[in-house]
Amino acid sequence: MTPNDDAPTGAPRSAQADDEARARAEAEDQEALIQRRRFLQAGIGVTVALTVTGLSALSVTGSLRPIAKITPQQEPPADGDILVRADDTTRVVQASDIPVDQKQVLCYPKDPKSGVVKNGTDNNLVMLQRFDASQLGPDTTPHAADGVVGYSAVCTHLCCTVSDWDSKNGWLLCPCHHSQFDPRADGKVMGGPAPRPLPLLPLRASNGQIVVAGGFLTSVGCS
Ligand code: FES
Repeated sequence: MTPNDDAPTGAPRSAQADDEARARAEAEDQEALIQRRRFLQAGIGVTVALTVTGLSALSVTGSLRPIAKITPQQEPPADGDILVRADDTTRVVQASDIPVDQKQVLCYPKDPKSGVVKNGTDNNLVMLQRFDASQLGPDTTPHAADGVVGYSAVCTHLCCTVSDWDSKNGWLLCPCHHSQFDPRADGKVMGGPAPRPLPLLPLRASNGQIVVAGGFLTSVGCS
């Protein structure tokens, strides 16, 4: 028994008890410090391990990531492709099939050599319309064939198909949020939330047939 064991609660402690308490506190502080260091070191180790593991995982996944494969049906329109109707891919589109000043005709490109219809992606959906050549703007005329112009049918707002026609104004109309585009003037946005014009597809005429003269002039899709 120590001299203070039976001291009443709240009574002053002896100097020896104070020394013991101080020593205990110091020991506890020391132990806490050691534990903290161990914790920090372990944390650093985990961080380093995760970083290294992450890097290796990245490099592994990077090297193992499969390369996106595009099927022939998903190849974008190319110079020399002919155009076939989207609702009947056996029907090749002639300039005379496109009525003047009327609603757009939806088509897909077809590689005439392989016979592959490129309807494997909506990004290849093309709208054709025909106008009197004198109505076409200066930047549209060089890409038209016998008054026929071609545009991507993918709305630049949220990728709906631009399937409607505003005959009063003569504008292409997206049914989703009513963006309007002028097919005589590079697919320029005339109203609605679309942020940019429709991509223009260069065309040329060959023996009355509409032929693709190159890829879309701007990127297809929505922003
Ligand atoms: S998706 Fe065409 S206007 Fe919104």
